[in-house]
Amino acid sequence: MNARRSRIALVATGGTIAGTAASATDTANYTAGQLGAAELLDAVPQLAALAELRAEQLFNIDSKDMGPAHWLPLLRRVQALADDDAIDGIVITHGTDTLEETAYFLHVALSTGKPVVMTAAMRPATALSADGPLNLYHAVQLACRPLAGRAGVLAVLGDRILPAALLTKRHPSAIDAFSSPAALTVDASDTQLQAFPSSRHHHIDLPIEVQALPPVELLTVSAGSSPALAAAVVRALARANLIAGRAGLVLALPGNASLPAAWETVLTEDLPPAVPVVLASRCGAGATPHRIDRPGNWLQCRSLDPLKARVRLIAGLAAGLRGARLKRWFERV
Ligand code: SIN
Repeated sequence: MNARRSRIALVATGGTIAGTAASATDTANYTAGQLGAAELLDAVPQLAALAELRAEQLFNIDSKDMGPAHWLPLLRRVQALADDDAIDGIVITHGTDTLEETAYFLHVALSTGKPVVMTAAMRPATALSADGPLNLYHAVQLACRPLAGRAGVLAVLGDRILPAALLTKRHPSAIDAFSSPAALTVDASDTQLQAFPSSRHHHIDLPIEVQALPPVELLTVSAGSSPALAAAVVRALARANLIAGRAGLVLALPGNASLPAAWETVLTEDLPPAVPVVLASRCGAGATPHRIDRPGNWLQCRSLDPLKARVRLIAGLAAGLRGARLKRWFERV
């Protein structure tokens, strides 16, 4: 007797995978988020042999316009699908530009052992050699493998599987735009999938009462950048903090997350102690050393890059973590 086909839910949110251009040879001038979820499935009839699919359209946008206001409804929808006994796995289509941020948010906030696989494309659906259809096929194939649920949210692009915790877009146009030190090829064995880092220490519960995510800004500190920038953001955050009781700042800093003296003065004198500030390194690899000589609201994030540090701070604040509990949430990275 044939084994039952997996039941996979596709949640479409837009991106280049759903993008169209006037010409099949134009891979640069196109509009993202044009095709609907059903059209994405129609382009890959081979999916029917893999799984029973049901598709829905949550958004249809270019992911440059995706942000915390979208992450929460996406989280709630994917959580509902994951909690449904009639669903074995979930595939999310998304733009590549901010995929790593959405992926990391879902990675920390979703509570499920089922596969959740994000996919995207670098070429629009109308392009010669569009990469979306094969990426979608590989994503559904992976979502049908229960073991893929072990490592939290995964992304599949360019014949590779990349874990959300270690995923970065590194090129604006190349087909293999993403990099991860933990990438596997799409034909990875069960043993390789099992060796993916477990996602357990990354999880945080966002109470159902949370209706909006807190304001957290990210500033990149370049050589000689004006601390007036920090002062302006700190003032805006202080206002948000007074209103909402939660806000935060992430700084992408040189080297070992080293804070220029002028910025240190602004943060020490202007930042209310209730506003957490994460000191991240802008280096893109490695881990920053542990420092014990820092004020209690200055958080270290070791190897977490600034984009993920911001997502982690948003999730931690949304979950109600403050002070020492927020610090511990960052010590777990
Ligand atoms: C987007 O991020 O929505 C546009 C770019 C892409 O998907 O590659």
